[in-house]
Amino acid sequence: MAKAVFNRSLIHRIQAAVVVHDADTKVIVCNSKAQELLGLTEEQMLGKAAMNPDWKFLGADGERLSLEKYPVNQAVFTQQPLRDFTIGIFRPNKSDVVWVLVNADPVLDDKGKIQQVIVTFMDITDLKQAEEALRESEEKLVRAEKLAILGKLAGVLGHEIKAPLGVIKHSLEFLKVRLDQDVDAKIGEHLNLMHAKLNTMDKTIDDVLDFARTKKLELMTVDPGNLVEYLLRDIPIPANIRIVPDLGRNLPCIAVDERQIQQVFRNIIANAIDAMIDGGTLTVSTGKQLSDNAGHEFVTISFRDTGEGISPDHVKKIFEPLFSTKVKGTGLGLVACENVIHAHGGSIEVSSELGKGSTFIVKFPIKEN
Ligand SMILES: Nc1ncnc2c1ncn2[C@@H]1O[C@H](COP(=O)(O)OP(=O)(O)O)[C@@H](O)[C@H]1O
Ligand SMILES: [Mg+2]
Repeated sequence: MAKAVFNRSLIHRIQAAVVVHDADTKVIVCNSKAQELLGLTEEQMLGKAAMNPDWKFLGADGERLSLEKYPVNQAVFTQQPLRDFTIGIFRPNKSDVVWVLVNADPVLDDKGKIQQVIVTFMDITDLKQAEEALRESEEKLVRAEKLAILGKLAGVLGHEIKAPLGVIKHSLEFLKVRLDQDVDAKIGEHLNLMHAKLNTMDKTIDDVLDFARTKKLELMTVDPGNLVEYLLRDIPIPANIRIVPDLGRNLPCIAVDERQIQQVFRNIIANAIDAMIDGGTLTVSTGKQLSDNAGHEFVTISFRDTGEGISPDHVKKIFEPLFSTKVKGTGLGLVACENVIHAHGGSIEVSSELGKGSTFIVKFPIKEN
């Protein structure tokens, strides 16, 4: 009797979760730690073979675990110990997931028949989260390295290519003026062609430079409606594209580097135009949004196009440096945008449907007075 009491108290004090099943997998013992991790009381577990279907076990990949993969069932089926099996337990009462490392040991009688299965598990949620954080910071590091290399490349481009390009453009202008009157049309045509190609090269280099140079912010307090109005006033838009401003009035002011932010918006609009080769509508709206986490308010400026849209596969990649689906794309536009917006304490989000169009939403924190 004393031994039984000692065992029971011992099992409940162990800092690992212990669940003992009998031969037909019914629970005959579950200690305090197991109740805590599972979020179930002893009464809810004792005598039950299967768990409440609302409780989900997840595999290491985050997918729901099939019944035959449940540790107790694996041990019964193989009659072998199961070692260091990672599962997630979704607890509907708390609506969270705890990650545990499970061991299961079948206890066999002399005839090799299963008597019991002892399942023990440990909470490794913190470990799993630390691993996740490590992976994320590694990804950030790789990205930072990529950016550093691009920065160096941009330096070279700036010095060795952009400057001479300017000289060539200048000389070309001179030639055009001098030759215009008295040469045949063919030469004029070639000069124009050279001019157009130089402009494209210049634009590509600007993309790289924009992206690589982190310029200091020169903040000014502006009205979001005015900001967008100025932008739309002097931006060249192809004839087959309709711009629809939808500007909320009396929005709170935001603090932005106007030049840099105008460049961000021009990048977003350039992408929208590229996505609407056969024409379409670009709606530019301003508004206010309450963020969900810390309760901060944001001004939103969104750009909704009716273009080709972005596949879910690509959506994950469009903010990666050098990702582009365009023949002449640099894949630097959106990274540059994101960098500038983050420097403002803001964020950029996208939602898109293939064949229907995309919406880019830029959020700025509202300037505190
Ligand atoms: N409005 C949009 N509609 C459809 N696709 C878009 C849009 N904006 C961006 N994209 C996608 O994101 C990619 C990356 O954009 P960006 O960084 O500006 O580079 P680039 O314009 O040089 O390709 C584009 O190549 C395109 O596939
Ligand atoms: Mg672009």
